[in-house]
Amino acid sequence: MSYESLKAGDEAVHRAVQGEIRRQNEGIELIASENFTSRAVLETVGSPLTNKYAEGYPAKRYYGGCEEVDKAEVLAIDRAKELFGAEHANVQPHSGSTANLIAYFSLLDPGDKMMGMSLAHGGHLTHGHPVNFSGRFFDVVAYEVDKETEVIDMDRVRELAKEHRPKLIVAGASAYPRLWDFEAFQNIAREVDARFLTDMAHFAGLVAGGAHPSPVPHSDVVTSTTHKTLRGPRAGFILCRDEFAKVIDKTNFPGMQGGPLMHVIAAKAVCFGEALRPEFREYARNVVTNAKALADGLIEQGLRLVSGGTDNHLMLVDMTPKGISGKKAERLLGEVGITVNKNAIPFDPKKPAITSGIRIGTPAVTTRGMGTEAMGRIASLIGATLANLEEDEAVKAELKGEVEALAREYPLYPDLVDEAIGVEARA
Ligand SMILES: Cc1ncc(COP(=O)(O)O)c(C=O)c1O
Repeated sequence: MSYESLKAGDEAVHRAVQGEIRRQNEGIELIASENFTSRAVLETVGSPLTNKYAEGYPAKRYYGGCEEVDKAEVLAIDRAKELFGAEHANVQPHSGSTANLIAYFSLLDPGDKMMGMSLAHGGHLTHGHPVNFSGRFFDVVAYEVDKETEVIDMDRVRELAKEHRPKLIVAGASAYPRLWDFEAFQNIAREVDARFLTDMAHFAGLVAGGAHPSPVPHSDVVTSTTHKTLRGPRAGFILCRDEFAKVIDKTNFPGMQGGPLMHVIAAKAVCFGEALRPEFREYARNVVTNAKALADGLIEQGLRLVSGGTDNHLMLVDMTPKGISGKKAERLLGEVGITVNKNAIPFDPKKPAITSGIRIGTPAVTTRGMGTEAMGRIASLIGATLANLEEDEAVKAELKGEVEALAREYPLYPDLVDEAIGVEARA
């Protein structure tokens, strides 16, 4: 892929693109919801399929000329069903949030009661937060983790469900480092006559690769993104039992979205195809092995992990014992080229824009080919960065150099870097 036309046509945007390619190349990406797509996915997202309007579904479009994009969407649907063992797939949602919006409006009427994990305890905004559409349209009951164990207590979830009798129960989160008991959720939903939805946005790639239990057999509807552990383009999709296929499709279009992003849908087909290959199983296993290694390394560095560790691709690190906020930890790590995000920890006394914790994940570094030895080095770099609280600039510069040296051992999109655009692109 060449960016020559962009360079010639729009120098300012080209510089931003180059700066970002360099940032990704030279840093250590530990944001748990990010990943690096394959070149095949990048090429497909950048293809002329972006030009096509295709409202409707394959062979049932409201526009002519859809023969080729139909093929791409059918491939995406068939591969998604095969990958996750699902009865039905809708691959049109533009994002994970849109997938949830479509799913809720398929299963609920405005004002209905739904239950999801509190954002403050790891859930996502779209699981019922008051500032989000989900909290504004629906009457939300939030479940939390147990204060002692920092793990979801299924007895408490059952009690809440029986007390409030929601019409929908949502499992899944953005910052929960443990496995989900999908069967227990399904049983609770049955007991209270609720539908059960799992938002597997974060761990979809682990499910696809057999490194995480699948929610599909237990859930009425499963929503997801394609760009986190699944390593595809930035987008969403929905899986469901046949019983819900019609309402999901109709709520997506014409109910919610207009023209589907056919270039992104084609890239989803590529992503699902990649995830069906044996190498992806190895990738998913390595993501989890690396997360455990990194968690152990951080504990050795004297850091406290929420719930004591991780079962999946992410961990939450409590900065309270260090006496700093998540916001400051994010900045300190960012200054040496390690990218994380500040994140609330359960029962966090600090505001969401400050927080007591940071969230760390291994999907992106694992894609670069890093293994447990590199995780040990990253844990030491994080430990040393968070020990430099007096902010000695010489120490920072040395650590930044070590981060860049580690990153250089695992090149990322090397041919996309325009050497003619130098350091100033990063400034
Ligand atoms: C669990 C969960 N669901 C939904 C989403 C929303 O996805 P998107 O950012 O594509 O709207 C996220 C994103 O972080 C998420 O973590």
